[in-house]
Amino acid sequence: MQIPTDTPRAEKYELLLQQAHELVRDEPDLVANLANISSLVRMYCDFLWIGFYRRVGDELVLGPFHGPVACTRIAVGKGVCGTAARDMKTIVVPNVDDFPGHIACSSSSKSEVVVPLVVGGVVELVLDVDNDQVNAFDDTDVRFFEQLVELIRLTHFE
Ligand code: SME
Repeated sequence: MQIPTDTPRAEKYELLLQQAHELVRDEPDLVANLANISSLVRMYCDFLWIGFYRRVGDELVLGPFHGPVACTRIAVGKGVCGTAARDMKTIVVPNVDDFPGHIACSSSSKSEVVVPLVVGGVVELVLDVDNDQVNAFDDTDVRFFEQLVELIRLTHFE
């Protein structure tokens, strides 16, 4: 699949969701699918970092991602990722300097969105997306990220 660079963002996200669905629907391995979703999105979107942390006990452990080297373990309740995991809700951070306890894996990260995947009241993983500009994410982006997480939930946790 090729998506022309001038494709409107909402349309691009729709095409990426379709492609993500094609990639994961016949593959039962979660890590393989998280890896391909990270790659797919990074190919077509100019995010600094996109990837996943899986919850293992009281920690989030780094999973498949694209972008700069990242922290490997984050305690649930710490940083943006751990807070989203603890509170079980999406967190949008327009400026990471304004989020108390933000964990700076890369000093280039300026804004961030974290979407948890919750199954039966338990967080299984989080999707984390970073941008090198402040105020980089709007409702269209957040909706796309939440749809990606929903695709993973339906594929692996139903
Ligand atoms: N900034 C995150 C840490 C993960 S990295 O951004 C990849 C946080 O505060 O949880």
